[in-house]
Amino acid sequence: MSVAIALDGPAGAGKSTIAKRAAKALDYIYIDTGALYRTIGLSAMRRNIEPVESKEVSDMLSKIKVEIAFNDKMEQIVLLDGEDVSSLIRTPEVSMTASKISAIPEVRAYLLDLQRDMAKKNNVIMDGRDIGTVVLPDAKVKIFLTASPEARAERRYKELLEKGMTVSYNDVLKDVNERDYNDSHRKTAPLKPAEGCVIVDTTELDFEQSVDKIISVIKENV
Ligand code: C5P
Repeated sequence: MSVAIALDGPAGAGKSTIAKRAAKALDYIYIDTGALYRTIGLSAMRRNIEPVESKEVSDMLSKIKVEIAFNDKMEQIVLLDGEDVSSLIRTPEVSMTASKISAIPEVRAYLLDLQRDMAKKNNVIMDGRDIGTVVLPDAKVKIFLTASPEARAERRYKELLEKGMTVSYNDVLKDVNERDYNDSHRKTAPLKPAEGCVIVDTTELDFEQSVDKIISVIKENV
């Protein structure tokens, strides 16, 4: 039987970098489900489709193929109709479109089996917003990773600067707050701590301390 660790939390809490490192240390496969919503967001942007519930979005879902694959370093990549879009989905525009499009129940339903299949076949640390509440409610360990909006915006801001993007801290903070609001107020699968989860707040922790904390929570509960 495979073991699943559900890791949920708001945008910019450091879930992906922390989970990647923890997965490596514990020999789990890291699955980033946000990348799937981003891929659907990118697909809508390319087709000039508004990220709202509509026939256009339904039609698009019936036509596209979203897949998870792994490169030779066992890092996740996402394929949109066979094209590796992993780096194209990391822009602020795609973030915002993903946040909006992920509120559509049909979009969430479309990605459900893909996520569950990954957890059936592998020991996974799966990162998202509704993994412990909806996707894998029977996950062995559920963690809700959070930090203050300012700390999260500061980290995201530095990350984007390092990637050479021109952004302002205030815009990033606004973006974090807007995505938090969208994620936690949507009707379907809103972002909230799952029942029985361990809440880890990384506002005062640095990266290494956050990784250690997650690894110890997993080891204590598996
Ligand atoms: O995690 P990341 O910031 O890449 O996710 C992009 C967007 O996808 C989030 O703002 C959220 O709206 C959505 N998402 C979601 N459910 C997940 C993962 C991501 O709704 N499990």
